[in-house]
Amino acid sequence: MSNPLRPAQPKIIAVANQKGGVGKTTTTINLGAALCELGNKVLIVDLDPQGNASTGLGIETEDRALTTYDLLLDEAELNDVILPTSTVGLSLIPATVDLSSADIELIANEKRSYLLHDALRQPAMDNHQFDVVLIDCPPSLNLLTVNAMVASHSVLVPLQSEFFALEGLSQLMLTVREVRQSANTSLRIEGIVLTMYDARNNLSQMVEADARANLGELVFETVIPRNVRVSEAPSYALPVLAYDTGSKGAAAYRALATELTQKYNRVA
Ligand SMILES: Nc1ncnc2c1ncn2[C@@H]1O[C@H](COP(=O)(O)OP(=O)(O)OP(=O)(O)O)[C@@H](O)[C@H]1O
Ligand SMILES: [Mg+2]
Repeated sequence: MSNPLRPAQPKIIAVANQKGGVGKTTTTINLGAALCELGNKVLIVDLDPQGNASTGLGIETEDRALTTYDLLLDEAELNDVILPTSTVGLSLIPATVDLSSADIELIANEKRSYLLHDALRQPAMDNHQFDVVLIDCPPSLNLLTVNAMVASHSVLVPLQSEFFALEGLSQLMLTVREVRQSANTSLRIEGIVLTMYDARNNLSQMVEADARANLGELVFETVIPRNVRVSEAPSYALPVLAYDTGSKGAAAYRALATELTQKYNRVA
């Protein structure tokens, strides 16, 4: 029986920044796990040919028989591409390097920007009763990222607390605006989250001040600290919440999940 308290449609969030190594995958995995702790059912879509979210959640390459690529091309049933993870309530659609050819292969497909949108809105999704879908985007503003933005209600942007952090943001915002003007008029910026923050480092503080001054309320109150436990967790195939539940990194992602949920409830 369906739970009347669950929304009919999951909230779909693209975790995107075309800059590499800023914490997209780390945020996707750990925010996903933290949302599960709050009682949500969460689906992570690995939309990066690097497959880091899949590896970080313990799905080995040989166990990725069906992937996001098959889902986009409608070559697999939704139920067959969704895998459970070791975190209760957290599921994953894995990716492999196959996905790197999608950009070129899909050029002639007139629905090329809508493939993920359509895949995530097929009737088979309803049975899973996901509350939230998080899409881990590649470090590029390519067709895959556009698919994520067209499929999503909002974009969550991890911003590394380092020099030049804000430089790439205008390009990202431009892409969001383009998608909003065409395929997805209601696309919102969910928020910008500062990652790898080092409170002892003046630069981190300057980036934070700069981001808050320029972007105001878009910047989450929660800041994710640089924390070695966060970087170790993927090699144990676990979210940091399970790898070291008392770590500062785990606490930060819990706070982010709470802030996101409160924001979401305010808007709803
Ligand atoms: N809060 C943190 N503390 C310490 N290390 C971190 C933290 N967040 C991320 N890292 C490390 O920084 C590196 C980059 O993070 P991550 O893979 O999440 O970035 P990404 O944006 O997904 O990268 P890509 O653009 O390649 O997909 C990883 O080695 C990760 O373990
Ligand atoms: Mg990544």
